Amino acid sequence: MHLLSILDLGNAVEDVFALAKEFKRRSRRKELEELLRGKTLAMIFEKASTRTRVSFEVAMAQLGGHALYLSPKEMQLGRGESIADTARTLSRYVDAIMIRAYRHGDVVELAGHASVPVINGLTDLEHPCQAASDFFTMLEVKGRLRGVKLAYVGDGNNVCHSLLLGSALLGVDFSCATPRGYEPRQEIVARAMEVAKESGATIEILRRPEEAVQGADFIYTDVWVSMGQESEAEKRMRVFRSYQVNSELLAHAPDARVMHCLPAKRGYEITDDVIDGDASIVWEQAENRLHVQKAILVRLLG
Ligand code: CP
Ligand code: NVA
Repeated sequence: MHLLSILDLGNAVEDVFALAKEFKRRSRRKELEELLRGKTLAMIFEKASTRTRVSFEVAMAQLGGHALYLSPKEMQLGRGESIADTARTLSRYVDAIMIRAYRHGDVVELAGHASVPVINGLTDLEHPCQAASDFFTMLEVKGRLRGVKLAYVGDGNNVCHSLLLGSALLGVDFSCATPRGYEPRQEIVARAMEVAKESGATIEILRRPEEAVQGADFIYTDVWVSMGQESEAEKRMRVFRSYQVNSELLAHAPDARVMHCLPAKRGYEITDDVIDGDASIVWEQAENRLHVQKAILVRLLG
């Protein structure tokens, strides 16, 4: 099984949450598991990372396995060796491959030629490990997911896509507010609508942040300029100006907790007082990456 989209978790998502809860409980008692003794995870990073890299590497270490950090610049991949040949070769050495790439299609291609599980560590289309971990965080806070309302404010990007699809899978009511032209991709919305028929989740794609956050249990935002979009920075800063998660917006949903996948651009998509305030659960989110990824790794490799 590969994990390229959050939908790939399917019914296994419940097991992942249960296992993550157990890992979190044990980590507080400093008990370490050796469930992945002798297993190796290759991690290819085309882009920067703090949380994804460190949490995967620490997860493998704490499970008795090993993680290898690989940069395409230092691999033959960077000199033109094909993705397919890289996949075939790595599959002979390691037990799974995690990849953070610019193009989702490249990850699909890697998975198509790998004989070991491939895990998407962020592409232009999705960030499934982030979203899985975020739903676990919401579950911890609310004790349930079905019928919980998640409002996403800002760019309809990779993180938004995985949250949207994950909401549809888990029965979370999802509402997002984005500027015109920055909505989540149409094919993702259509897929989410289809999946939501089964879970009963409602999906709203809106324009005004104040409308999206009405009655929200969670307000989520992400950077306005994702990795690889640096050349659009000036325009994006203008377009997203009224999509800031600040105390004024929070006043429309007084009971909502605030989420951000991080890294944050403080003073842009979120203000200091909000990210550092009582409603913020961003550090819990960051911590949970470790516990949830352990669960994902054990599920895929154990
Ligand atoms: N949220 C997240 O994936 O962070 P990194 O880019 O630091 O890995
Ligand atoms: N949307 C952001 C998420 C970073 C974790 C990006 O792609 O850069």
